[in-house]
Amino acid sequence: MNSRGREIVLGVTGGISAYKSCDLLRRLQDHGFLVTVIPTRASLNFVGVATWEALSGREIATDLWNNVHQVPHVSIAKKADAIIIAPATADILAKMAHGIADDLLTNTLLASTAPVIVVPAMHTEMWLNPATVSNIETLRSRGVVIIEPETGKLTSGDVGVGRYPESATIISGLLETLAVNSDLLGKHVLISAGGTREAIDPVRYIGNHSSGKQGYALAHAAVLRGARVTLVSANSQEPNIEGIEIIRVLSTSQMQEALEANFDEADILIMAAAVADVRPSKISAGKISKSDLLKIELIPNPDILKALSSRKKDQVVVGFAAQTEEAANGGLDIAVKKLREKGLDAIYFNDVSGGAIFGEDETSGVLITSDGAEVPISKVSKVTLANKILDLALNKLG
Ligand code: CTP
Repeated sequence: MNSRGREIVLGVTGGISAYKSCDLLRRLQDHGFLVTVIPTRASLNFVGVATWEALSGREIATDLWNNVHQVPHVSIAKKADAIIIAPATADILAKMAHGIADDLLTNTLLASTAPVIVVPAMHTEMWLNPATVSNIETLRSRGVVIIEPETGKLTSGDVGVGRYPESATIISGLLETLAVNSDLLGKHVLISAGGTREAIDPVRYIGNHSSGKQGYALAHAAVLRGARVTLVSANSQEPNIEGIEIIRVLSTSQMQEALEANFDEADILIMAAAVADVRPSKISAGKISKSDLLKIELIPNPDILKALSSRKKDQVVVGFAAQTEEAANGGLDIAVKKLREKGLDAIYFNDVSGGAIFGEDETSGVLITSDGAEVPISKVSKVTLANKILDLALNKLG
């Protein structure tokens, strides 16, 4: 299963085995999980904030009343793909069973719809106490995954059930719970996003309205499916995606250089960027006067996609065609022509008439493959389109 790029909340409650969760955090990171730790106040008696911050590389919030404007319990809950409570004390089990929300962790639990995995660790009597047994039953009936404590030596010196399990046991429980599509594991997906800009002088440039959203949606979808992703991003304001390699470029030649350097070892190239077709023959060192602007000589940029696809070995190559002609009025024919001329496996005909699509979260168009199939796409999210393109590319890879 792929775990790269998945967000996990690790809730740590006040039991002596809290120190073992330091190892769990490390092993989760080894699997590529991105981990936000929420320690309860009691747990800080065992492992402090500094340790969690150093190990997770993230700021640690313990209190509902810090950064209130960000509504931390809701924002953390929303991005979590799973919540693990390890160790889970009898106290947190009771709170969870009754829906009590009196700190950041318990509020996050209530605000989240992600799968929850608890790792109870406590003294045998507490584990077997009818109150705990009943709370565990309640949690199980609500779909909470319980990783049973092991039997062995306990901190008190007694021997019995209640021991914190090995990190590997907890992680295999998590992987099973998350069971997600990892069909791109072992594949390298190279994606271009945004729009290239060609400097005219220190002030002006030739550019376009591409926001980079579609390219970033592709990168995100691919990393969640297990791919190694290299994203060549031109002038996009989209937030970084952890777990992928992002190469930032400005101009077409920089984009070409970055793509050429990565193409040979890629399995799939998806060229979602809008490339400036022309550039000034020379970049003026000083600001060009108004009157001289009309004299700027433009020269064509290389067609990056065509050049890369002409040297492809087994790669699947997908392009985009942003057209202002509607599909029915010749737009589709132009896209098919581009697919042929650039030697592509597929092209997404993107209807951008009237400035539609740019900067939006939804897209409409037609996905065309080299074997002539045309799949109409109507008002879907850019993530949905991303997954359709990846399905198609994977299918072509065989
Ligand atoms: N493309 C490219 N290099 C260029 C121009 C375009 O790699 N210099 C890529 C785009 O990223 C896109 C595809 O080619 O995936 C189609 O781009 P588009 O601009 O629609 O096609 P052009 O061939 O430039 O045709 P035209 O501008 O004449 O419509």
